[in-house]
Amino acid sequence: MNSTLLETKNLTYVYSKGTSSQVHAIRDICLKIEKSELVGVIGHTGSGKSTLIQHLNGLLKGTSGTVLLDGKDIWEKKSDIRKVRFRVGVCFQYPEYQLFEDTVYKDIAFGPTNMGLDRDEIDRRIREVIYYVGLDESYLEKSPFDLSGGEKRRVAIAGVMAMQPEILILDEPCAGLDPKGRETILSMIKDYREKTGSTVLFVSHSMEDISKIATKVLVMNESRLAYYDTVDEVFRHADELRNMGLNIPRLTKLFLMLREKGYDVNTNVYTLEKAKQELLALLSKGGTDK
Ligand SMILES: Nc1ncnc2c1ncn2[C@@H]1O[C@H](COP(=O)(O)OP(=O)(O)OP(=O)(O)O)[C@@H](O)[C@H]1O
Ligand SMILES: [Mg+2]
Repeated sequence: MNSTLLETKNLTYVYSKGTSSQVHAIRDICLKIEKSELVGVIGHTGSGKSTLIQHLNGLLKGTSGTVLLDGKDIWEKKSDIRKVRFRVGVCFQYPEYQLFEDTVYKDIAFGPTNMGLDRDEIDRRIREVIYYVGLDESYLEKSPFDLSGGEKRRVAIAGVMAMQPEILILDEPCAGLDPKGRETILSMIKDYREKTGSTVLFVSHSMEDISKIATKVLVMNESRLAYYDTVDEVFRHADELRNMGLNIPRLTKLFLMLREKGYDVNTNVYTLEKAKQELLALLSKGGTDK
């Protein structure tokens, strides 16, 4: 049995509370994230994904409700919040804009240096994470500004990985990248989690990307938690996901269409292998509708 690492209890956050422009960004979120899960976070624009994430390492404090790390309220002792931020590492959208040092090495060293680690340990970590993000040591002395967009993104992510957070959270790590760049980031996230056993959350607008690597899917809808379950279970609600304006995989859309036409098929189909099984099952039933 996996144990709960991070939990939110009735977490609610209101921006500009008490003013005419107040926004209920997240409402009553109850969530238990288990150790070593790879969670894909999805939801339409403005559904509350980034707001939720910022609560998980104490960058925002809930208007009401709590966040528990290992069963302990992260705000129990205010002075401990720094330690929480080392344990839960967040990499924001377009993190490459935050690179500022003159070498990749120094940029990756920034987080671990803040943690007060010694130079040898920092050096060891830098040489480890540069491979995690699919680059090699020849990059370390380069200027981040000479790298391609995708490479810069990976260096920025490496900087958070070098802090060895127990939970790594990436807000839209694939945003704005071409299909090859997206694939690279996805397989990098998958490998990192397999190698380190850490818990990883990543926000994505693509159900297809999430279905490729995630063990769990967290769906936000209009500031509420709609689903948190395995990929397979969440895809059973393909119809609802589509109605929430989410971009479901083409294969899933095809099976939804078949079901709408009266064929007796499941809709939690998102890989070719599953599509084949469903079609064979349908044919064995005579290929007819319900
Ligand atoms: N700093 C802020 N001040 C006021 N309102 C905000 C702020 N940041 C976000 N909001 C509002 O809170 C709600 C949730 O926003 P949030 O950024 O968490 O959504 P999101 O799911 O991450 O969206 P996206 O997919 O566009 O990144 C939205 O209505 C948004 O306009
Ligand atoms: Mg966001």
